[in-house]
Amino acid sequence: MDIASKVMNLQEAAKWRESLRASGRKLVGTNGVFDLLHRGHAEYLNQARQAGDALLVAVNSDASVKQLKGPTRPVVSEDDRAFLLASLQCVDAVVVFDNVRATEVWKAVCPDIYVKGGDYTEETLDREEYAVLKPVVEQFVFIKFVDGRSTTSTIRKVRGESVESTGTSGAGGGLNPKLNLLYGRRSVRRFQLRPVGDDLINDLLSAASSAPSACAKDPWSFIVLRSESSRKSVASCLPNGRFLVDAPLGIVVCGDLSRAHGGELSYLLQDCSAATENLLLAAKCLSLGGCWLGVHPRQDRVEALRKLFDLPSSVVPVAVVALGWPAEEPPARTRYRDDMARFV
Ligand SMILES: Cc1cc2nc3c(=O)[nH]c(=O)nc-3n(C[C@H](O)[C@H](O)[C@H](O)COP(=O)(O)O)c2cc1C
Repeated sequence: MDIASKVMNLQEAAKWRESLRASGRKLVGTNGVFDLLHRGHAEYLNQARQAGDALLVAVNSDASVKQLKGPTRPVVSEDDRAFLLASLQCVDAVVVFDNVRATEVWKAVCPDIYVKGGDYTEETLDREEYAVLKPVVEQFVFIKFVDGRSTTSTIRKVRGESVESTGTSGAGGGLNPKLNLLYGRRSVRRFQLRPVGDDLINDLLSAASSAPSACAKDPWSFIVLRSESSRKSVASCLPNGRFLVDAPLGIVVCGDLSRAHGGELSYLLQDCSAATENLLLAAKCLSLGGCWLGVHPRQDRVEALRKLFDLPSSVVPVAVVALGWPAEEPPARTRYRDDMARFV
């Protein structure tokens, strides 16, 4: 098969799929953006192909990538992404689809095996796609991505940014590139549909709990909002928290007065604020984005969250952090002005 003929429309793909079925060959399906094809993509696709006899890759159109990842993506056009994928030996067919979800492709070709990245599970696959796949798919396979290979890190390298720190500053602006990570931590309020895996959630909580704390009393505790219903309930308590519903993850940072230094609210608030900032910086280190949503000192929000989670009166919900894979990248910056400091 020549390369161009591997790129099919839906009708062609459905016909090709029937020929596979007739010859008793198992079709593997996977979908994604595959912008700036790199080794991680190639290893993933090779492994996917090994799960069956032929591999169909459904690729997001340019318009749907913009919706998913923000206005600066994709870097490579849909035609070129499809051609590059079709050039791989392990790929047998490529279909470009125009929606955020690949539901229509899966309806048309009914794969025998469905493959997705290892940060997903059957429970976190998109519900619309899953509803179409579940009745036809014999096996769901989740493949771990190769560490350190990603389109985002490639883009950062090209921009001359530090890949380790994942900060967005660098050229110009007078910002020290060694602090890229810190300056690049901006509030992110738009997120991709992709879930945040448990390992990353654990990293975030561990980083939050490494914050400074008066006399190391560590009065904090965390409520992890994994379900959409829990995020909806919390968002309804926060006047500016609507976007929490569309974030794949939320974390409520609470402090317990009985564990704070001197039993004092001020120490509790300082400790929990340090933990919250650590959470946001850790998110940035992990290429996630987040935004702080204020709770304390608004008593109506504090009481609403206490009631929602049945918290004792000694526990103060201080902040909520909305987290996820960013679909926007506000530029790195500082708001420092000379008059903010006095040198003595
Ligand atoms: C105590 C506190 C409460 C905040 N509450 C909200 C909020 O309710 N909604 C929101 O969108 N952002 C909220 N933010 C984020 C700020 O708006 C944001 O940090 C600020 O505009 C600076 O922008 P940057 O984070 O991109 O540097 C809050 C930040 C803090 C520290």
